[in-house]
Amino acid sequence: MTRSARVLLAGAAALAFASGTAHASAAAAQTSPQTQVPVAPAEPDWARPDAQMDAFIDDLLARMTLQEKIGQLTLLTSDWESTGPTMREGYKQDIAAGRVGAIFNAYTAAYTRELQEMAVEGTRLKIPLLFGYDVIHGHRTIFPISLGEAASWDLDAIETSARVSAQEATAEGIHWTFSPMVDVSRDARWGRMSEGAGEDVFLGSEIARARVRGYQGEDLGAVDTMLATAKHFAAYGAAQAGRDYHTVDISERTLRDVYLPPFKAAVDEGVATFMTAFNEYDGVPASGSKFLLTDVLRHEWGFDGFVVTDYTSINEMVPHGYSRDLAQAGEQALNAGVDMDMQGAVFMENLARSVEEGRVDTAKIDRAVRRVLEMKYRLGLFDDPYRYVDAAREKATLYKPEFLEAARDVARKSMVLLKNEGNVLPLAADAGRIAVIGPLADSKADMIGSWAAGGDRETRPVTVFEGIAARAGNGVSVEHAKGASYEFADAGKTDGFAEALALAERSDVIVAAMGEKWDMTGEAASRTTLDLPGNQQALLEALVATGKPVVLVLLSGRPNAIAWADENVPAILHAWYPGTQGGHAVADVLFGDYNPSGKLPVTFPRNVGQVPIHYDMKNTGRPIELGAPGAKYVSRYLDTPNDPLYRFGYGLSYTTFAYSPATLSAASMGPGGSITASATITNTGDRAGEEVVQLYVRDLVGSVTRPVQELKGFEKIMLEPGESRTVSFTLTPRDLAFTRADMSHGWEPGEFQLWIAPSSGAKASTPVTFTLTE
Ligand code: NOJ
Repeated sequence: MTRSARVLLAGAAALAFASGTAHASAAAAQTSPQTQVPVAPAEPDWARPDAQMDAFIDDLLARMTLQEKIGQLTLLTSDWESTGPTMREGYKQDIAAGRVGAIFNAYTAAYTRELQEMAVEGTRLKIPLLFGYDVIHGHRTIFPISLGEAASWDLDAIETSARVSAQEATAEGIHWTFSPMVDVSRDARWGRMSEGAGEDVFLGSEIARARVRGYQGEDLGAVDTMLATAKHFAAYGAAQAGRDYHTVDISERTLRDVYLPPFKAAVDEGVATFMTAFNEYDGVPASGSKFLLTDVLRHEWGFDGFVVTDYTSINEMVPHGYSRDLAQAGEQALNAGVDMDMQGAVFMENLARSVEEGRVDTAKIDRAVRRVLEMKYRLGLFDDPYRYVDAAREKATLYKPEFLEAARDVARKSMVLLKNEGNVLPLAADAGRIAVIGPLADSKADMIGSWAAGGDRETRPVTVFEGIAARAGNGVSVEHAKGASYEFADAGKTDGFAEALALAERSDVIVAAMGEKWDMTGEAASRTTLDLPGNQQALLEALVATGKPVVLVLLSGRPNAIAWADENVPAILHAWYPGTQGGHAVADVLFGDYNPSGKLPVTFPRNVGQVPIHYDMKNTGRPIELGAPGAKYVSRYLDTPNDPLYRFGYGLSYTTFAYSPATLSAASMGPGGSITASATITNTGDRAGEEVVQLYVRDLVGSVTRPVQELKGFEKIMLEPGESRTVSFTLTPRDLAFTRADMSHGWEPGEFQLWIAPSSGAKASTPVTFTLTE
């Protein structure tokens, strides 16, 4: 089928969905067509009709054998790295025999040239390989982990990070990144929370778009842009009990309102590829889900790129108990809408027989092959398979000074000041003697976190100790002691304590760099506690007991349960894993060269028992506020307040900001209208600073219950001391849409509360109310 025919089909299905017929079985509710939000098929630039490309691919397809076609649907890892449980020997023979169309975990101009030559010189049809890689938060120059970048709420900075990543990665022969990871995650036990943008639908969607823009640029065919991948489709972040790869069992409404929007945003931004998830949704593994891969992705959203599976996830449909054997798994995956099999070799080894025996239609294979070939064509690989292979460019590009500067800039923007009692921070340039203590104080490997792609863990990263030492003024002594261990097995040990405490005693201020080892978040890194692992908590308590001022610099990829520190440590800065330039960025913030502006993209619970916890929960029929303090029959815990330790959207600055009450342009809006909310923000302190101004809305009554608040807008502004600025947000009814009782997507007339605030739940200015009319 040609591209334009596919788009028409997608458009027709989208209309069917928008008019409600796709969900005829759902409970009927009063919805008027006026309130439906039509789903427009995606039309990115790269998908515009291209008759020349169609003719080229028609001709190529006509000359391909079935085996050659299946080769284009096969992605294998090189032996440089394995990012999953299996390693396949002989991938080079597979390339030479035309059995593989794409390779991942191989880069550098020299190596991609070597492999590309095998495909182009050695195979009958000379179809170039596509090189993919996990370029997640930087390629060589490593930026903060994705969750940290999200804490910057700075879409330009995030886009820059992706842009730099693309420039470095493509200079090393990579065409395709397995990023952005757009999984919403609300469970801090789940290690992969570190790879995404946190818990929020709106922020996550904006960040998904920024990352796609950064990687893909304006022209997929330019040599310094690459294909992006929205992953993991879908609902991977909802793994039960936060255990990686675990079952997902959520309603379709929650799927559509919480987990899908960032994927849809990526499609709207023109993302070129999708990756399936390891988990099941509604009893069907994602790689075999026709509902996700065809009904939603193709028919409702009109996605026109290709879909790759996650690592061996077709094979895993057998242990899931969904497929009898690999042959059936391959058929189910292809028929559901998978185009490319990552590392499982299921298509390679089974699909031909499935076609011969009539269980898979050749047209479906041709369609998948076409989608893959189209991307190779758009990248310009058929014009010149070596156009991304340029040793001179590679040498001139990696670790450019401006890339390192960008990484430092994003890193300091990502840091969140959680507490600053008595203005312990910023440190004075003549701070006297500074002790930098903790297992993360001078650890290069940890600075760059997990999924650090081609990042160097040994020499390049600047540690916290190095950063502070480089910044401290003349005459300031900066000394380091490790003191504690973050290894789980070291809980209870006190080996390094004496040395650290002696250093603390002879110092004027203590910077405790603590948190988690870099691989305690990321894939297969779930935890059942959120405490500081190892013996760090005991050392932290001993450091505080010295009576010296302590600044806790936290490095980790998830919210940790730090209630004790919040009570007892005067200053706390969350630095995530800040990347190659991380130590300099920490010093920039500690010494006040940069005024912290990050805000939490996730809720920090008091303890693991509050998890999952997120700012946009429902009210319940017995909200805690209904009862007197301590009332029994309300929705609460006996032993912990309901409130989290730190709210989504929270973060301090070295200055202070005052918010005026919000005002509205009108008291109501109709279906075709809009409403503008404004508030004036004033810098009431004595330093220039940035503030993330946040807009929240509550839909008071719906055909289904609605969250107590939802982020609907934000803007990061810079204010000089004493300066005021009025920030305005315009909403249309479409911004208030959700999945209604009858499963249609749209808004409902009624009353809404709205407020503009420095964090979620703050309701700093009294909410204003408006009406959405019929
Ligand atoms: C498995 C991970 O889930 C996925 O995110 C990654 O892109 C692939 N492995 C490839 O490394």
